[in-house]
Amino acid sequence: MSRMQGIELHAIDLIKRAGKYIRQKMDQAYHIEEKTNKSDLVTEIDQHVEDLLIRGILDRYPDHHVYGEEGRIVRPDTLEGTVWFVDPIDGTMNFIRQKRLFAISIAIMVEGELRYGFVYDVMADELFHAIKGQGAYENGIRLAPIQERPVKEAIICMNATWVTANRRIDSNLLAPLVRDAVGVRAVGAASLELAWVAAGRVDGYITMRNMPWDYTGGQVLIEELGGRVGTIEGMDMTYLEQTSVLAGSRQFVEDVLTYVKK
Ligand code: IPD
Ligand code: CA
Ligand code: CA
Repeated sequence: MSRMQGIELHAIDLIKRAGKYIRQKMDQAYHIEEKTNKSDLVTEIDQHVEDLLIRGILDRYPDHHVYGEEGRIVRPDTLEGTVWFVDPIDGTMNFIRQKRLFAISIAIMVEGELRYGFVYDVMADELFHAIKGQGAYENGIRLAPIQERPVKEAIICMNATWVTANRRIDSNLLAPLVRDAVGVRAVGAASLELAWVAAGRVDGYITMRNMPWDYTGGQVLIEELGGRVGTIEGMDMTYLEQTSVLAGSRQFVEDVLTYVKK
């Protein structure tokens, strides 16, 4: 097996081991810290899991770059070579308060191209993964292409922040989506919301504020199934900084852009 063929299996093995560790530790006492505000939390479990994943990656692939949320990297500084985007626990607030609906998210980019995506719902034991050009899977079962749906037939994952006064977007632009869609949900874990778009459980995901480790794992899944992931302005991702994310079927994304460009 070549080094790159084995990478998918290695990533899955690391993710499953990290998931087991989280399930073992989550009911024991652990330290919680506020990062930038009361909703932006990190626990010693997030940090330990990130260490486990980074060590597992670099032991095998010492020349790869790893960007992990808890490494406190403000932004990735290069996309050259092979780059791993790692979120050890995406949905830390859910992890702490709800003890479910959080995920381990990993994406692997090779020379600027996203090739592999993994989103693992730790408590549901659901692994979503995709390899560019080779399909997307939920626990090993191939997922169907994303169904095309306009906003008026869609269930949208979107945080209520973006339809109330905020400093990133005029809330009047997105509020009509709430009225026109079939339903709006906020799960609290970007990677999982994107994986659910891929699995056809919801039709779109919108946020004004994600980092590359939040969305890249889900992006590979969605793109592999014919969907689109870009910014709320309709631009491609740059993977170097915080960004808005608009994801869903082509029809959904194009439809949302007509609301935003009004
Ligand atoms: C957060 C979650 C949340 C999203 C935030 C992310 P974290 O990640 O994905 O749903 O709205 O933008 O930062 O901090 O729980 O890993
Ligand atoms: Ca995250
Ligand atoms: Ca996180």
